[in-house]
Order: sequence, then structure tokens, then C-alpha cells
Amino acid sequence: MYKITDVLISEEEISKKVYELAKTIEKEYKGEEVVFVGILKGACVFISDIIRKIDLDICLDFMAVSSYGMSTQSSGVVRILKDLDSDIEGKNVIIVEDIIDTGLTLSYLRENLMARNPKSLKICTLLDKPERRKCDIPVDYVGFKIPDKFIVGYGIDCGEKFRNVPYIGIVEKQD
Ligand code: PRP
Ligand code: MN
Ligand code: MG
Repeated sequence: MYKITDVLISEEEISKKVYELAKTIEKEYKGEEVVFVGILKGACVFISDIIRKIDLDICLDFMAVSSYGMSTQSSGVVRILKDLDSDIEGKNVIIVEDIIDTGLTLSYLRENLMARNPKSLKICTLLDKPERRKCDIPVDYVGFKIPDKFIVGYGIDCGEKFRNVPYIGIVEKQD
């Protein structure tokens, strides 16, 4: 059984950072339309919060992919469980992720979305674990760089649990 043993990033710290990222994006895309693509399920909380702080003409879309499943190790195999509803050709697109770990999920998604000829494609992630990276991937907006600890909350799960925890917590296995 896994239990939260510590708080890594508090609700207040998250909300301050989400606001900062939102304002940076707002400035950079002033006068433009942007399609925000949330990667389910992990990004559901982050994308809901950030879009409400961005005063731009936006469209919201989602993709559901899974590389981990119920396992805690990335398999490297990315499965598309749900594709975009909309055509992104000629559109400004921002992929919104909760966390970049090995980078395998985003590197696959980036290639996949680039092939659809968007006007631009950027990546926004709340968390980044650079120590774990297995492939190079350009990340445009990063909330927090974090150490290689097993974390949950704010959309991030451990065996599908803890997504509703409002802060980023560290989990440890307890018997
Ligand atoms: C997690 C997380 C990222 C991805 C990061 O998703 O939400 O999408 O793994 O790992 P990577 O950089 O090593 O590819 P997961 O596959 O667990 O699906 P979920 O979002 O539904 O929990
Ligand atoms: Mn995910
Ligand atoms: Mg997961």
C-alpha cells in the first residue's frame, strides 16, 4: 500500500506557478487563437486550472494516452486511447502535461501532432524530472523541476489513486 509521507509542492505554490505560466502564455500568443491539448488523464487538473487564468481565444481538446498503465515503470510503448476531436492543421497548439519523466510519451505525441501540420506546437508541463529523461525533447513552459521521487496528486496517480489530492505529495510503500 502506498501512503503520502510528505508534501513536495503545496497548493499555494502550485496556484502561484499556474498563474505565472498562464500570464507568460497569454503575452506570447496575444491576438492569436490557441488550441490547448490536455493529455489525459494526468493533465486534467492542471489544464482546468491554467485555461481559466488565460485571457485568449482558446479551444480545448484532449488526447488520452497511456504509457504506464497500472505499472509504475514507463513501458516505452505509448497507446492512443482517445485522439483529438479537432483538426489542428494551421493552428497554434500547446500540449499540456502534468509531468515529463522519461520523455517517451511527449516525444511520441510531438511527432504525432507535428505530422498534422500545426502552425506552431509548444509543450507546457507543470513538473519536469530531468534526471529520468531517456530522450531529448524541447519543453517550452515548465512549472517546477523536481527530484527523482515518486510523487502523486494534482492529477498524478499511483495505481489510479491520489489524483484528487490538491498538492504534490511524495509517496512511499508501506506494509
Ligand atoms: C504519466 C504522466 C505523463 C507520462 C510521463 O501518464 O501523466 O503523461 O506518464 O511519463 P514519460 O515522460 O516517462 O513518458 P500515464 O501514462 O501514467 O497515464 P495517466 O496520465 O493516465 O496517469
Ligand atoms: Mn499522463
Ligand atoms: Mg499514470
